[in-house]
Amino acid sequence: MTAAPAADPYRIALLPGDGIGGEVTAQAVQVLEAVGGLTDLRFDFDEIPAGAAYYREHGRDWPEGSEERCASADAILLGAIGLPAQEGGHGSLLRSDGKMAGWSAIVGNRIKLDLYANVRPVKLYPGVRHYVSGSHKQVWDPENVDMVFIRENTEDLYAGSGGILAPGGVAQVATDTRIVTRASSERVIRLAFETAMAREGAPGDKTRRVTAVVKDNILYGCRLFVKVLEEVGAEYPQVEVETILVDAFTQWLVRRPEHYDVVVAPNMFGDIITELGSALQGGMGVSVGCNVGARHGMFEPIHGSAPKHAGKNRVNPLASILSAGQALLWLGTRRSDPELLRAAGAVEAAVCDVLAAGEPLTYDLVGTERAAPMTAVTSAVVDQLAEHLPARAAS
Ligand SMILES: NC(=O)c1ccc[n+]([C@@H]2O[C@H](COP(=O)([O-])OP(=O)(O)OC[C@H]3O[C@@H](n4cnc5c(N)ncnc54)[C@H](O)[C@@H]3O)[C@@H](O)[C@H]2O)c1
Repeated sequence: MTAAPAADPYRIALLPGDGIGGEVTAQAVQVLEAVGGLTDLRFDFDEIPAGAAYYREHGRDWPEGSEERCASADAILLGAIGLPAQEGGHGSLLRSDGKMAGWSAIVGNRIKLDLYANVRPVKLYPGVRHYVSGSHKQVWDPENVDMVFIRENTEDLYAGSGGILAPGGVAQVATDTRIVTRASSERVIRLAFETAMAREGAPGDKTRRVTAVVKDNILYGCRLFVKVLEEVGAEYPQVEVETILVDAFTQWLVRRPEHYDVVVAPNMFGDIITELGSALQGGMGVSVGCNVGARHGMFEPIHGSAPKHAGKNRVNPLASILSAGQALLWLGTRRSDPELLRAAGAVEAAVCDVLAAGEPLTYDLVGTERAAPMTAVTSAVVDQLAEHLPARAAS
């Protein structure tokens, strides 16, 4: 009897980056290796040194050929990019052209790989306290916070169109031009509707709903965004469509999170409201950002390099582990691979088990007295994985 041929490995590019980026990415890799041990899935990791520390040493963001290595990977896992210009100081280390050191690995990849949507699942897992109110008093049931934010990732005020007028060498006038196009709006809006179709609706009323966060009473770009929303929405009669002004949204999100299912927004509003979303779900230690396009996906914890915590085995690895789970989900959906989808569900379920048990968890979730080391949290997730990935019966 001959053994079944092993499945082709998925190629995962790793950009651990700076500060705590390296150690949290290593935790995600450990979890993916455990997935490989429990399933037929195989992962080939291609680690690329990149970031501000690399720039400081080599005068460039990453080695030659890194762009191509990222482009040819099945998915990219990013840690964190950026370091302060001076130890303990404010202000990031910059390249000689004024861009952030390590820019190519994060913003460069978003542009080169056309990662047009930033997808942020906002879910309050049982056992996690949200970050609203200094006392961490719980005001929502976990089941009331379960939504996905989709932020346009390429244009709007961040398109880089603007400048400073400095007659006589003194800066006098600054402009940032807001660019909103039909094409870029349409692809994130379509992704929002497709995401809603794959979900079971808002936690409060189980209605599939896409909410566009705009300022269309004043801004032309938002009026175009809403026009495209209405056009695309007409193709999805099963999904309720609504718009809300961004200022009103900030209070409604906090007052009735259970109303929201999929939230879509132009770039700058999306940038701001996703941070608020992160507070609803328990902070940066558990918040994930997925940069996705038609062909490529880059997955990251939303936190930065937190240099003062680096190398101390104390930060929360769960955001990075959950981002690896999101990579499996995205890849599994794209490749129609049920084993990847099963693995994605198992990673999230294993994380939920550890959160619900209340230990071992890091300082940001349980305070310094009860804090466990980062590696203990990862080991607990790996232990739980086996519960959710039982070996398949031989056929
Ligand atoms: N996507 C990215 O790569 C990214 C995002 C944000 C900031 N940055 C960069 O990171 C550097 C530091 O930025 P910052 O200090 O403003 O933000 P940060 O997210 O690195 O850290 C802020 C604070 O959040 C807490 N924190 C962050 N991650 C945590 C984790 N996993 N577990 C527990 N606590 C955690 C820590 O208390 C930390 O001091 C800067 O150079 C910045 O440009 C990068």
